[in-house]
Amino acid sequence: MTDADFFSVVTRQRACRAFSAEPVTDDDIARVLDAATRAPSAENRQPWEFVVVRDPDIRAAIGDLTRRAWEAHGRAFSETRLTLGMLAEVERGATGGIAAAPVQLVVCADVERGLEITVASSIFPAVQNLLLAATALGLGSALTTLTTTFGKELVALVGLPKTVVPVAVVPLGWHTEVARAAPPRAVRAAHASRALRAGVVADAQPLRVETDRLVLRRWDVDADLDAYAALCAESRGMRYIGDGTTRTHEESAAQLRSFEQTWTDRSFGLFATELKRTGELIGFVGLAIPDFLPEIMPSVEIGWRLGRAHWGNGYATEGARAALAYGFDRLDLDRIVSVHAVGNDPSGNVMQKIGMHLDRETVHPRTGGTVRVYAIDRPVAH
Ligand SMILES: Cc1cc2nc3c(=O)[nH]c(=O)nc-3n(C[C@H](O)[C@H](O)[C@H](O)COP(=O)(O)O)c2cc1C
Repeated sequence: MTDADFFSVVTRQRACRAFSAEPVTDDDIARVLDAATRAPSAENRQPWEFVVVRDPDIRAAIGDLTRRAWEAHGRAFSETRLTLGMLAEVERGATGGIAAAPVQLVVCADVERGLEITVASSIFPAVQNLLLAATALGLGSALTTLTTTFGKELVALVGLPKTVVPVAVVPLGWHTEVARAAPPRAVRAAHASRALRAGVVADAQPLRVETDRLVLRRWDVDADLDAYAALCAESRGMRYIGDGTTRTHEESAAQLRSFEQTWTDRSFGLFATELKRTGELIGFVGLAIPDFLPEIMPSVEIGWRLGRAHWGNGYATEGARAALAYGFDRLDLDRIVSVHAVGNDPSGNVMQKIGMHLDRETVHPRTGGTVRVYAIDRPVAH
């Protein structure tokens, strides 16, 4: 392997938490384990043990244990510690994503063979070799420790001798499309998007963001419905949304329920946007997944819709800046896009004002209209 190959593998290695059912060959497992066992260890004691679990029942039981560990304490512990995007990702892994891998490697330490003080630091270099070898073969993997908090149950499941304790579980398998799209791990400073943060006063409530003149919050479907339905019944405001038609009261109600459900499912969505001064709901600004345009997937888009009476005041730009900061700071996104129908110049202007650049012009697959896709990358720390 050349240096370039090595650096490419190191750069691409990421935690994979979504696997296809495609099997992994014995040969690939042997190569990955061989790489693991080339690692250094204190006194060259090599205190590692790797248990290769292929049996579907035992894999399912490990998956159950992981889910229980997550539900018993993992989620509550992580909620205040992880960004919302990462929380959702780890939750997906802990509640079935990781268990879907066709191989689970239970990484163990023989505490008799290794000195107590160096046993952990003698195991994890081997795990790192293993992760890198998996990446080099195109396999997905992840170093996870959550399941080991139920160590006794794990020991019983895989039948370990007394001196051997599990220290990690590494799923091994082939990425799904979603997992394959994970960008390389970036080197990030704590306040990567300082420039965008300026002017945004996000309070301690994660789902409430304040700007100078706006409050961005989650929806109260009953209380917000009349104001939102009025906005969706305006023909001018709806001209460039989807097929350009207005929505009935019932359609608006269904849409609000789905906006709110999206927040619950994904930890992000479209914020109900109100004027700080009066509390009036003026529309929405926020983040969504632009699955109507498969050619730019996977991605996250920023979008807005404000009542006609509130256009021309810079509210869309102000709200969009806050939503961008939310996407970069809280969700850890690396890139955000935005799409507007050609002819909707005001939205195009907002995209430019918030620092987005034109990525492409293309055709909306459903309406046949021309749309412009703008994009912005996560600001570099400075
Ligand atoms: C000691 C250690 C324990 C970890 N435990 C878990 C875990 O229990 N569940 C999980 O989903 N990821 C776990 N991870 C993976 C990290 O969350 C992940 O490596 C980190 O967020 C960086 O993301 P990336 O690997 O995708 O770049 C663990 C990583 C390490 C080093």
